[in-house]
Amino acid sequence: MTTDKKSYYLTTPLYYVNGKPHIGHAYTTVVADTLARYHRLKGEDVFFLTGTDEHGQKVEGEARSRGVKTQELVDEMALEFKDVWQKLGITFDRFIRTTESAHIDTVQKLIRKIYDNGYIYPGDYQGWYCTPCETYWTEEQMDEGKVCPDCKRPTAMLSEKSYFFKLSAFAEPLLRLIEKNPNFVRPATRLNEIVSFIKMGLNDLSISRSSFEWGIPVPFDEDYIIYVWFDALINYISGVDYLNEGDVFKKYWPADVHLIGKDIIKFHAVIWPAMLMAAGLEPPKQIYAHGWWTTAGGKMSKSRGNVIDPMNVVDEYGVDIFRYFILREIPFGLDGSFTKEALILRTNADLANDLGNLLHRSGAMLKKYSASRLTRTISSHPDDRELIKRAVNLPGKVDEKMADLQFSLALKEIWEVIGLANKYIDTMAPWKLFKSGQHDRLDEVMYNIFELLRIVCIMISPFIPGTAEELWSRIGNSDSLAKQTFANAGEWGKLPYSATVSVKDPLFPRIEV
Ligand code: MSP
Repeated sequence: MTTDKKSYYLTTPLYYVNGKPHIGHAYTTVVADTLARYHRLKGEDVFFLTGTDEHGQKVEGEARSRGVKTQELVDEMALEFKDVWQKLGITFDRFIRTTESAHIDTVQKLIRKIYDNGYIYPGDYQGWYCTPCETYWTEEQMDEGKVCPDCKRPTAMLSEKSYFFKLSAFAEPLLRLIEKNPNFVRPATRLNEIVSFIKMGLNDLSISRSSFEWGIPVPFDEDYIIYVWFDALINYISGVDYLNEGDVFKKYWPADVHLIGKDIIKFHAVIWPAMLMAAGLEPPKQIYAHGWWTTAGGKMSKSRGNVIDPMNVVDEYGVDIFRYFILREIPFGLDGSFTKEALILRTNADLANDLGNLLHRSGAMLKKYSASRLTRTISSHPDDRELIKRAVNLPGKVDEKMADLQFSLALKEIWEVIGLANKYIDTMAPWKLFKSGQHDRLDEVMYNIFELLRIVCIMISPFIPGTAEELWSRIGNSDSLAKQTFANAGEWGKLPYSATVSVKDPLFPRIEV
C-alpha cells in the first residue's frame, strides 16, 4: 500500500445527498480525476478521495419531504453518486461517506482534541440562520431584507445554547501561513478575497446544534450534534485514516490540493486550516477554487428548471466529449457558460476535425501506400526538425500548465501540436511523394505523423481516457497504454518497427446541428 514513490493526495468536496449529481459536482470530480490520472502517469503514488456529505438539517428535511427514513435516503443517494462517477470514468481511490463509523469516530477524536487544547467553549448563540445553507449570518453580512447572502432566501432569528470554536484566535496564524505559502489559495483573486476576509476580523463559530438529530454527537455533551460543516471537513483526514495515525496518514497528509468551487472557499481556506492548527495538525498544501457553470438562462437552479444533468449530456454525446468540453472550454478558476451550441462547436472543431481527421486521413493514406504498415525510420531531414522538436517537448509544456492546474491551457498545448501535424501533412503532401516514387521519404513522413500521435495519445490520456485507449489500439503499439510513463512519453522513435495501423470509423463523427 505505501511505497517510496512521491505521494499526491487530492480531494473533491463531499457532495450533499439531498439531490442528484449535477454539472457542478461532475465538474469538480472530472477535474480531480484528470489530475489524479495525470499524477499517476508521472509515476506518483496518488490518493484520490471523494464522497458524500450525509448529515445535517438539509438532508434530514429532504428525507422527511420524501417520506423515507434518512438512512434510506443517504444510502440510495450515495449509490447514485457512485453510479454517475462510474459512468464518467472517475478513478477515485476512496469514496467516503460521513455516516461511516470510521468517519464518525474520527470527527469525535478531532473535536475532543480541539476541546482539550482549549479552542472549544460553551456559550449562547443568537443569530440569523439560513436553513438551506446551514449557516448563521450577522446583520452586517446581510442587507435589509435579511436574506442569506449566498442563496438569497430568507433567514430566521434563532437562539440556542451552543459550543463555539475559537476561530478568532487563528487570524494571525492564518495570515502567517498565507505569507509563507502564497499559493495556499489559488487562483490569486480568491487568495486576495480570503486575506481581506481574515483582516476584517474572525468571529468564533458555533459548531453544535440541538434543534434536530441527524448528525454526529458532540463527544463531551451528548445533548448536541456537531455542525455539519465541522463534521464534513474532517473527511479529508478521516479518508486517510487519521483515526489510527499510522502509515497511510503519514504518507498522504497534508493533502496536496483540495479542489472546491468558489462558493465554499471560506470553509476550506479559513475554518478548515484553523481547525487543524487548533488540533496541532498541519494544514493542507493548497486550496484551489474553480468557477461556476451557468447556462443559457443564467444561474442554474432547481426552481428555474435549467440544471444540467451530466448524465443526459453523456448519454447524448459520450463521456469524452463531455470531459473534453468542460476541461477545455474555460480556464480553470473562471466561470463559464454550458450550452449545447458551445459543446458542439468545440467537439466538431477540436475532436472531429483536428484530432479525428488527423488520424483518419493519415490512416487512409497509410493503407493506400503501404498496406497500413509503418516503417520505423528516425528522420534527420531538416523539414522534420520543428515537428519532432515540438512533439518531443510536448510533455514538458503540458507539465508547466498542469503544475498550476491549467487544464485548458495544457489541452491547448496538445492541440497546437495536433495542428502542426495537420499542417505538416499539407506541406509534405505524401500523395506527391507516393506518385513520384520517393518511398523512403514517404516512410519517414508517415512514421513521423504516427509517432507524434503516439506522444499526443499519452498526453491526452488523463483528460479523455477512453479516446486515448482507442487511439492507442489503432496506431499499432505493441505494449499497453497503461504501461506508459510521463518520463519516456516524449522519447522519439518508440512506435515499433512495422507497426500496423488500423483504419476504422472516425474517432469523433461531426455532430450535425
Ligand atoms: N457538502 C458541501 C461540501 C462539503 S466539503 C467538506 C457542499 N456540497 S454541494 O453538493 O452543495 O456542492 C459541492 C460542490 O459543487 C461545491 O464545490 C460547489 O462549488 C459545486 N457546484 C455547485 N453548483 C455549481 C455550478 N453550477 N458550477 C460549478 N460548481 C458548482 O457544498
